[in-house]
Amino acid sequence: MRHTRIIVTHYGGPDALRVVEEECPEPKDGEVRVRVLAAGVSLPDLLMREGVHPETPPLPFTPGWDLVGVVDRLGDGISGIEPGQRVAALPISGAYAEFVCLPQRELVPVPSGLDAAEAVSLVLNYVTAYQMLHRSAHVRPGQRALIHGAAGGVGSALLQLGRLAGLEMYGTCSLRGAPAVSDLGGIPIDYQHLDFVKEIHRLASEGVDVVFDGIGGTHMWRSRKALRPAGRVVAYGLTSSLRGGRLASGRRHRYHGIAIFGLYIAGGWLLPGRKRVVPYSIQWLKRLRPALFRQDLIALFALLQQQKIKPLIAQRFPLAEARHAHELLGKGGVTGKIVLVLNGSSLESGAA
Ligand SMILES: NC(=O)c1ccc[n+]([C@@H]2O[C@H](COP(=O)([O-])OP(=O)(O)OC[C@H]3O[C@@H](n4cnc5c(N)ncnc54)[C@H](OP(=O)(O)O)[C@@H]3O)[C@@H](O)[C@H]2O)c1
Repeated sequence: MRHTRIIVTHYGGPDALRVVEEECPEPKDGEVRVRVLAAGVSLPDLLMREGVHPETPPLPFTPGWDLVGVVDRLGDGISGIEPGQRVAALPISGAYAEFVCLPQRELVPVPSGLDAAEAVSLVLNYVTAYQMLHRSAHVRPGQRALIHGAAGGVGSALLQLGRLAGLEMYGTCSLRGAPAVSDLGGIPIDYQHLDFVKEIHRLASEGVDVVFDGIGGTHMWRSRKALRPAGRVVAYGLTSSLRGGRLASGRRHRYHGIAIFGLYIAGGWLLPGRKRVVPYSIQWLKRLRPALFRQDLIALFALLQQQKIKPLIAQRFPLAEARHAHELLGKGGVTGKIVLVLNGSSLESGAA
C-alpha cells in the first residue's frame, strides 16, 4: 500500500516542502501504525523548516508536531489497544503524513465524537497553555495576566483556559485579532501601534502577575517591565526569529534563542524587584514527566467534550497543500490554529 507524506528538502521558506508518495511504513516491535486524520500546523513547524528550532531533525524530514488519527495496524508485542481506536500524539516531527508508526507509549486515547481538527488543537497548543498556567505560573483566580500573540494558536488557548481559571487578561495582537481576543475575554492591546508596557501600567497600575511571552529575544525584557514586583514571565517561544514567515536575521543559529533565554533567566535572579523569567518547553516537560502530558491532555479532552473550551480553527487544508498552510501562517494575522485534514476526516470518521 502506498501513502503520501510531506518532506522538508532543505532549510528555508515554504518552497522547501515537497509532497512524496512512497510505500506505507510498517510498524516495528512495540509500534502502532496510525492513519492520520488531522495534523496541526504551528509556528514550531515553520521554525523547524527554517532549521532554527532546537528540535530540528536532520534533512530530509517530515514536519508535524501533533496529530490525531485511528489505530490501523499493530506491531509485535502490542496489547491493550485495538485497530479502529482513536488516538492523539505529539511526535514533534512526522505528523504531515497519511500513515505514521509510533511507539504505543506515545499514544493518548481520544474520546469518540470529537472533531479531529478541534481535538488536534489540544495536543500542542492547549497542553502548552494549560501547563504554563497551572504548572509554571500556578495561577490563582483574580490574578492579572498579559498574553502575547493572544489571537494565535497558543495565545487563544491561553485566553480560553485563563478565563476558566478566573484570570483578568490582557492580550497583545494586531488589529485583525482584536475582536477574537475580546470574544475570548481578553482586553486587546494593539502591539503594532501601542507600547504594551505603558499600556499595561495605564490599565493595571502596578503591573500584571504573569506574562506569557512566546515572542522571545529582547521582547522578554520588555515583558519583565510589565510585571508587578514578584511577578513572573513564562518564556516559551521564538516568534520574533521569523518575519513575514522567513528567518528574520538570515542566520541559522539553532541555540541562539536558548542562549538569550539563559541570560534573561539569570538576570531575573540577579536584578532587584523579585521579577523572574521562567522557561517552559512542552517537549522537555514531556520527556522528564511523560505522565503529566498524558494526564493534562486527557483533562483537556474532557473539557472539550463538556464544551468548556472550543478551539478556534483558522483554516483546514488537505495534506498536499501543506505549503499553502505554511505560507498563510508565515504571513501572520491568523486567528487560531491551522490544521491539515486527511483521510476524509470528519466528526465521526474513525470514531472508536
Ligand atoms: N515552548 C513550548 O513548549 C512551545 C509550544 C508551542 C509553541 N511554542 C511557541 O509559541 C509561539 C507561538 O506559536 P503558535 O503556533 O501559537 O503561533 P501563531 O499561531 O502563529 O501565533 C503567534 C501570534 O503572535 C502574534 N505576534 C507576532 N509578533 C508579535 C509581537 N511582536 N507581539 C505580539 N504578538 C505578536 C501573531 O499575530 P499577528 O500575526 O496578527 O501579528 C500571532 O497571532 C512560537 O514561538 C512557538 O515556537 C512553544
